[in-house]
Amino acid sequence: MYDLILRSVLLDNRTADIAIARGIIQKIEAKISEQGREEFSAAGMMASSPYIESHVHLDTTLTAGEPKWNESGTLFEGIQTWALRKQSLTRDDVVKRASTLLKWQAVQGVLHVRTHVDITDPSMTALKAMVEVKEQFKDLVDLQIVAFPQEGILSFPNGRELMKEALEIGADVVGGIPHYEYTRDLGAESIKFVFDLAEQYDKKIDIHCDEIDDPNSRNLEIVAYEAIKRGMGKLVTASHTTAMGSYDNAYTFKLMDFLKKSGINIVSNPLISITLQGRLDTYPKRRGVTRVKELWRHGINVSFGYDDIMDPWYSFGTGNMLQPAQMAVHVCQMTGREEAIACFDMVTTNAARTLDVEQAYGLEPGKPADLILLDATDKWDAIRRMAQTVLVVKKGRIVARNACARHNLLDEPISFKK
Ligand code: FE2
Repeated sequence: MYDLILRSVLLDNRTADIAIARGIIQKIEAKISEQGREEFSAAGMMASSPYIESHVHLDTTLTAGEPKWNESGTLFEGIQTWALRKQSLTRDDVVKRASTLLKWQAVQGVLHVRTHVDITDPSMTALKAMVEVKEQFKDLVDLQIVAFPQEGILSFPNGRELMKEALEIGADVVGGIPHYEYTRDLGAESIKFVFDLAEQYDKKIDIHCDEIDDPNSRNLEIVAYEAIKRGMGKLVTASHTTAMGSYDNAYTFKLMDFLKKSGINIVSNPLISITLQGRLDTYPKRRGVTRVKELWRHGINVSFGYDDIMDPWYSFGTGNMLQPAQMAVHVCQMTGREEAIACFDMVTTNAARTLDVEQAYGLEPGKPADLILLDATDKWDAIRRMAQTVLVVKKGRIVARNACARHNLLDEPISFKK
């Protein structure tokens, strides 16, 4: 007997039953005759592997308005506001906010999260708290922690030592912020340091890279070069890369092939980029988002993150991964059918590649029974309607059931030509 059977699930345009036992997907067939200890009638809802949050800051989340709101909406007022809030940071404060956000995410089907944590703090308050949170949530959410040097590595007192200490405490991924170092040379040197450290500690890399509208911010090419030189591409991620939205086409043309060759991953945070970038422009005003569509067309792995959820940089957000995906559809002009579907993949399968969790990810027999049911007829429909996540299954256990209007079960559903 199976532990759980999901009946009449929509999977790649066919209806199937999914049988689960011992936390593993055992069987996916059109009709499974055996019984499950527990059964759930999906009645035609779409099944997907869980959402993946590729880039968020759980140490700053849920602080919007504390001690004041970011009225200008700029990166700079965000930094000033966080400097005030940071003074009251405690272990309990971080644990409470990060835990709340992880629950918000899990209920909506986000079961893998990569969080950056500011380690330019000699007390390492946020990092130590986040390591505790990771342990507490290990049966619900796979949390990766990036040692993120918000104020620089070479431009911050003892920055190198703090990065090493962060890895000793339990960070999983080495971060960086080369465009924020005092000089271009220091930026380049910081990237080499990040790679050396990752090799030394056998860790992945995720660098905040060129998050600025400056067309001369070209740290991305150095990241790609180091990845090629050391054969580490798959384990390396460049986040934001918003300067690419300001590069000229001749340089970008050359860069695209180089990025493809390097095999690195790119993470875009469309909600934040469209909000924070372009603030110094009048009109025409740049969108400030990296070239998601062109990267994707070049076969470069791109995934999406929120970056900020209700903090000094962004006062909005719910954790629902369809929000950044839908923003990308609009702001990156990925409104073609295949383009919109690709945006769904950027919060699921592409993100699994970014986080390097592909081996344990996917809806097929033998894989961990982690999946979600959406009130949608397909990926495009999920994006269009910001589809409700109706059921969340983790290791074969139902961890969330959400009430839903079930738009796709109207007696006479609105049909669209595909
Ligand atoms: Fe970030």
